[in-house]
Amino acid sequence: MKDLIKKLTETFGPAGAEGPIREVIRKEVEPYVDEIRVDALGNLICHKKGQGGKKLLLDAHMDEIGLMVTHIDDNGFLRFGTIGGVNPYISLGQRVYFENGTFGVIGSEKIEDPKDVKAEKLFIDIGAKDKKSAEEKVKIGDSAAFFQPMLDLGSRVVAKAMDDRIGCAVIIETLRRLGPVRNEIYAVFAVQEEVGLRGARVAAFGIEPDVGVAFDVTRTGDTPKGITMEVALGKGAAIKVKDSSLICHPGLKEYMVKLATQVEIPYQLEVLEAGGTDSGAIQLTKAGIPAGVISIPCRYIHSPSEMVDLGDVEACIRLCKALCESPLDF
Ligand code: CO
Ligand code: ZN
Repeated sequence: MKDLIKKLTETFGPAGAEGPIREVIRKEVEPYVDEIRVDALGNLICHKKGQGGKKLLLDAHMDEIGLMVTHIDDNGFLRFGTIGGVNPYISLGQRVYFENGTFGVIGSEKIEDPKDVKAEKLFIDIGAKDKKSAEEKVKIGDSAAFFQPMLDLGSRVVAKAMDDRIGCAVIIETLRRLGPVRNEIYAVFAVQEEVGLRGARVAAFGIEPDVGVAFDVTRTGDTPKGITMEVALGKGAAIKVKDSSLICHPGLKEYMVKLATQVEIPYQLEVLEAGGTDSGAIQLTKAGIPAGVISIPCRYIHSPSEMVDLGDVEACIRLCKALCESPLDF
């Protein structure tokens, strides 16, 4: 599992530039599904045939947050806009990389007060001596991702883009473990979640599932003087009740709780007060789709050092597998 997480998190793929991560995921899932297609927006849609059961959409977004070059100055420094929720404080001093292998570091203008750390005061320095040599490596509109190798802390791992490559890892590992199943499984590795749940919206429209479940990270309330929240690392799969994008289908939520209890999977209930998930878009597709979320608890979300607990990841995989094999008769 650690090898898979390492491979997925260390691959490039900011929203809108998911090509490299899509190819990595395609290779991982190919042996375990019957059909694979890529839709117009770039979602990777994998179908594992069932035996007359329900259409179950499993979604994880494969994009990550990032930066986009907006201007290159005469001295070769790159100004950037953000792709998704990038925190300027956390960006300062980080290393970033482009799809073509160009690396850079984030520097800032002279700042008197830490409150003035805003994205427009920051720039990327790729070590170019002037505009011309910068333009040989990078163009306006190119995307960069944070650069951080995965860190193995034993039962916990840290990486950039754990949001939401860990959700991708949960679905991939579930597909590997599944034998013949009754439900029609549609595994969607969605694009552009970080800029507004865009990929999942069209994927759900195309598939028109009976049930949709997203797998994504959620915040925790277990760090010193952090936010007040019930979810903690190491306490199991988080079954979402609500976030700012949706109120999960109550029947489906209760059904997942029942499943977890039956097969003794550790779980916790999650109410996330800020942040959304792909299920928010899936739920509002066509005439409405019963949608829920299984969340992987994660510390330091949207930083280059997002931490998850492997016991929680295992609980999410087992719950995902149980869902695939269940009659979904809630
Ligand atoms: Co995110
Ligand atoms: Zn996410």
